[in-house]
Amino acid sequence: MLHDPNRIYVFDTTLRDGEQVPGSQLTTPEKLIIAEALETLGVDVIEAGFPISSPGDFNSVVEISKLVTNPTVCALTRANKGDIDCAAEALKYAKHPRIHTGIGSSDMHIKFKFNSTREAILERAVEAVKYAKGFVEDIEFYAEDAGRADNEYLARMIEAVIAAGATVVNIPDTNGYCLPEQYGAKIKYLKENVKNIDQAIISVHCHNDLGLATANSLAGLQNGARQVECTINGIGERAGNTSLEEIVMALKVHQSLDLHTAINTKQLYPLSGMVSRMMRMPVQANKAIVGRNAFAHSSGIHQDGVLKHRENYEIMNPEDVGIDQSEIILTARSGRHALKHHLVRLGYAIDRIDLDQVYQRFLELADAKKELKDDDLLQLMGAKAEEN
Ligand code: KIV
Ligand code: ZN
Repeated sequence: MLHDPNRIYVFDTTLRDGEQVPGSQLTTPEKLIIAEALETLGVDVIEAGFPISSPGDFNSVVEISKLVTNPTVCALTRANKGDIDCAAEALKYAKHPRIHTGIGSSDMHIKFKFNSTREAILERAVEAVKYAKGFVEDIEFYAEDAGRADNEYLARMIEAVIAAGATVVNIPDTNGYCLPEQYGAKIKYLKENVKNIDQAIISVHCHNDLGLATANSLAGLQNGARQVECTINGIGERAGNTSLEEIVMALKVHQSLDLHTAINTKQLYPLSGMVSRMMRMPVQANKAIVGRNAFAHSSGIHQDGVLKHRENYEIMNPEDVGIDQSEIILTARSGRHALKHHLVRLGYAIDRIDLDQVYQRFLELADAKKELKDDDLLQLMGAKAEEN
């Protein structure tokens, strides 16, 4: 059913799972701006919200459905008719609508969240998919807490919902519990033990409680999943979701995996900034791909290496993620090579400068100021620096 077996579908849930972050709620106009940017980025699916949760969320799903043309617009529901009716209504303007319904699959959730039994939950799952199928063709089923679910039961559940009409089956590690080997093995188990698995796309949805969301998603994709659920900057419940920019760049850098997305990676950095600003969630400086320091080199050894050949200390091009160029930060750890690089950039005729002498003065200033900017260098050089 897939034309290209190595194509990875990117399902962005910034506006649903991501927006669950406390203090980061967005207005509908803000969500529309982000949805438009996600379309330009090239995501395949936008999870626009959970329509039953509030009139505002319902309205956002309606407006996003009207706005975007290429991506599928997806709305979340629990496994009940009221949620599904509401999602179907919210999606009625979508060119490519998808209902994302599901229920807990771990014994923990079955017992302590639903006070139910495996068989009763399996029946509810199937009923929900059949009911949703009455509204739209494209149905994604999520087996919540699949990361901790018993594989044999999970496989039965997945087989039953595919038979009921699910087109995508989402295997969430809801609590970010799994190790990459465990999560990868779970996906492999489903590939090998669910008879009708080829009639659906397997989706990975990983949380970052142990800092393993991206690694787990990658393990899932390597074992046969073909959709990845993620958010810009990895925002989301608790420690967040798989970061879109990390998973996309991991696939791009490791071409030997032969898995590719349709993401226009040059949009990653601007979109990261937009989401951070609108959601009032600063991006940590050392965040992979989009953090302030992701392409900044500050130790003398690294600066020297990167100035000799960029790839000595860079595994990807900053331009590929929308950053103009990597940065050589001037601190007391910098060497002459880095200082020279900045002086040349500022237009100094380096062969007319006593670099050793300037470097000594540079170190004194850098020890006092920690990081030197262009203004500091200009001041350091003063009028007398260009000797002769
Ligand atoms: O983490 C999770 O299990 C979810 C589902 C609702 C898809 O976000
Ligand atoms: Zn989630």
